[in-house]
Amino acid sequence: MRTIEWDTAKQSLRVIDQRQLPEKYEFIYLDNYKAIAESIWNMAIRGAPVIGVAAAYGVVLAGLQSTAKDRTQFLTDVRTAAKELNDSRPTAVNLPWALKRMLSIIEGQDIPVAEMKSALLAEANVMAEEDILVNKTIAKNGAPLIKDGDTIIHHCNTGALATVDWGTALGIIRFAFEEGKHIHILVDETRPRLQGARLTAWELKQMGIPYDIISDNMAGYFLSTGQVQKVFFGADRVSANGDVANKIGSYMLALAAKDNNIPVYSVFPTSTVDLSIQDGKRIPIEERDPEEVLALSLNGQRVMPEGATARNPAFDVTPARLVTAYVTELGVVQQPFSVQYKELLRLQEG
Ligand code: MRU
Repeated sequence: MRTIEWDTAKQSLRVIDQRQLPEKYEFIYLDNYKAIAESIWNMAIRGAPVIGVAAAYGVVLAGLQSTAKDRTQFLTDVRTAAKELNDSRPTAVNLPWALKRMLSIIEGQDIPVAEMKSALLAEANVMAEEDILVNKTIAKNGAPLIKDGDTIIHHCNTGALATVDWGTALGIIRFAFEEGKHIHILVDETRPRLQGARLTAWELKQMGIPYDIISDNMAGYFLSTGQVQKVFFGADRVSANGDVANKIGSYMLALAAKDNNIPVYSVFPTSTVDLSIQDGKRIPIEERDPEEVLALSLNGQRVMPEGATARNPAFDVTPARLVTAYVTELGVVQQPFSVQYKELLRLQEG
């Protein structure tokens, strides 16, 4: 299942509209960068890796539609678009990572505008293919962590929908299942946007992986009664010391897991690591519209009293001390992250 794909004939980005799932499986076609920024903000496209690649295609569209005749004006047009795309969501570092990579393709290059346009498209296509390959490598690296018979709590959605294809934490689960391991997933529903109940459950159903949805506040019960062997979640930004910003609720889940000696694995591509930020306190946390919290209904009726107010931080930070290990395309990173991750980077470069 390809979450986003460049459509050459339509000169637009074809996107699975994640707001409609699981009710409807529908595509939308985004033909300008503002539409891509808007779709990242309204979460038609969501999940750290895929918003990065989608933003890269936003830069492509800004470039293709620029009427600039000279290099300087072209760069200005593209940088303006990149700024707007960057502002669409603040927490996942994959967004600035992807935009920086796109701009680096044309900055300092003495080539005609037409060539810059095709260079941008070529780079976005490379990033999309790379994302899938990276996820499959992560899956292979992480699958040995899962044992036959494991029950796993999974938070938010880290599947194909959160990436260009395949997924990160859910990609590991898929790989282990396809190897023949018998596993059972407890799917945190992930209030308030319900990425677990809506998207992860939908993906697990397609793959035939057994699961039960639990409300987020049930995780402690399952962890403390010996019914869970592992916790898996993704990441939106990992600081140099190994603190993990991820979907709201990850921190409470990791705390309860730690208290019960259950291992917690955070899974992400290296594009999610932000070595410029020393610890998680410096990671910007998105606060979304309170209406996402207040819109809950039961038996067709709104639950909250008229005029109720709410807070809606979309992410929290799990400190490194609560994370057992991290899985990336470079391999499994043990603690201390700050040392082991750099060692893996060094081995790869060396
Ligand atoms: O607000 P969302 O749905 O974009 O948040 C997504 C998450 O927190 C995921 O767990 C994270 O991006 C990792 S996805 C591979």
